[in-house]
Amino acid sequence: MIIDPWSSQKYEYEKLFETFGIERFDENIWKNLPNPPFFFRRNIVFGHRDFQRVSHAIGKNAPWAILTGLMPSGKMHLGHKIVIDQVIYYQSIGADITIAVADIESYATRGYSLKEAKKIAIEEYILNYIALGLKPCRIYFQSKNEMVKDLGYLLAKKANMSQVNAIYGFTGSTNMAHVFAPFIQTGDILHVQMEKYGGTRPTLVPVGADQDPHIRFCRDMADAHRLYSIIPKEGKVGVFIKNDEQVSELLDAAEAVVQKMGKVLERKDDYKALYIQVDDLFELDQKLARIEREYDGYGFVAPSSTYHRFISGLDGNKMSSSRPQHALFLTDPPEDVKKKLWAAKTGGAQSAEEQKKNGGKPEQCMIYELFTYGLMEDDNGLKEIYRQCREGELLCGHCKKRAYQLLEEFLNTLKEKREQAKDELKEYVG
Ligand code: TRP
Ligand code: SF4
Repeated sequence: MIIDPWSSQKYEYEKLFETFGIERFDENIWKNLPNPPFFFRRNIVFGHRDFQRVSHAIGKNAPWAILTGLMPSGKMHLGHKIVIDQVIYYQSIGADITIAVADIESYATRGYSLKEAKKIAIEEYILNYIALGLKPCRIYFQSKNEMVKDLGYLLAKKANMSQVNAIYGFTGSTNMAHVFAPFIQTGDILHVQMEKYGGTRPTLVPVGADQDPHIRFCRDMADAHRLYSIIPKEGKVGVFIKNDEQVSELLDAAEAVVQKMGKVLERKDDYKALYIQVDDLFELDQKLARIEREYDGYGFVAPSSTYHRFISGLDGNKMSSSRPQHALFLTDPPEDVKKKLWAAKTGGAQSAEEQKKNGGKPEQCMIYELFTYGLMEDDNGLKEIYRQCREGELLCGHCKKRAYQLLEEFLNTLKEKREQAKDELKEYVG
């Protein structure tokens, strides 16, 4: 099994834990964060890699970054909203936010021109982001960012054809711009750790599960270019120099760092190794990464990620702009919303009588899913809908009406805010 980030497959999320080693994003992971938002509480953000590195920074009030990206193609629908909800939350707790517009990826894999991609990005996505409450931050276009493209090229030195083919399933006829898209994405993710953009620090990439191959790839790239490798073993930690250049200088530098935060147990120059004892491996990793820059290394700490579930289309398949009749767009007029909601798949019974008697099945209902995805942010309100549905107190017509009213109000307000957002664009896109 491979995950193809460019297809529209649906995932069995359970399999991702075992097959790819994604970790569960359960309550223990997020419970110490301030005001846990609905997408944490409801397990919509369900998986992660190395999130602890980020929560460690949050706990210590140390700097950390968010980098995520949007691929301009089609219109922005409710399924796209969940990423920006997360970004807005992280911004509210002090993260430094950067958003990549993947116009090169859209050109390479979807066939849009850079000009078309720009128009879609601004009109469909960025204006909605601002309207949804994103405060000023840095949004850039891949095609305009020299550092991102340079890094993509330079880091590519440590990846080879078999590796990318194994991850992405590229074939002999895949166009080379497409083949290069993951490298540009690696440039996106890691460039925020360059000095100009805040330096080496934990970097969280919140994305849909389809993006995990890019995350794995990027983490591998970051590690491959490290000069030190850090291997914990039985209460001790081994710090090794990976190359043969400047070994004793690098060991000296590591020793100096370790002496401030723990102790050096043994140094073996011929093994290019230092055996040490420290408690805080995240801090050690970051400090060593910073040293690497003085020795011509890149010094990137591997990025962390979270994965969210995709919202279903109103027919129960994937929500996608290529199936507009089953997707809810942020620019949909009320009449369209009404039509789509009324045609939606529910968990209701055949007849009102039967539903009153046996109740409905919210787990199978797309209207209930909308409530879960933020239309009903209040947990008690959501629980009450669930209960009423199960017990047959609530019928689908009434329930859809309620969903419609909430959506209508949300979309109307958003529309007004989008108008205001036009004047604010320059505070975001530079
Ligand atoms: N590949 C992403 C998508 O298809 C877009 C993207 C580009 C991205 N660069 C990124 C996402 C960096 C996260 C981080 O939607
Ligand atoms: Fe879905 Fe509401 Fe009908 Fe229950 S009552 S099945 S939640 S639409």
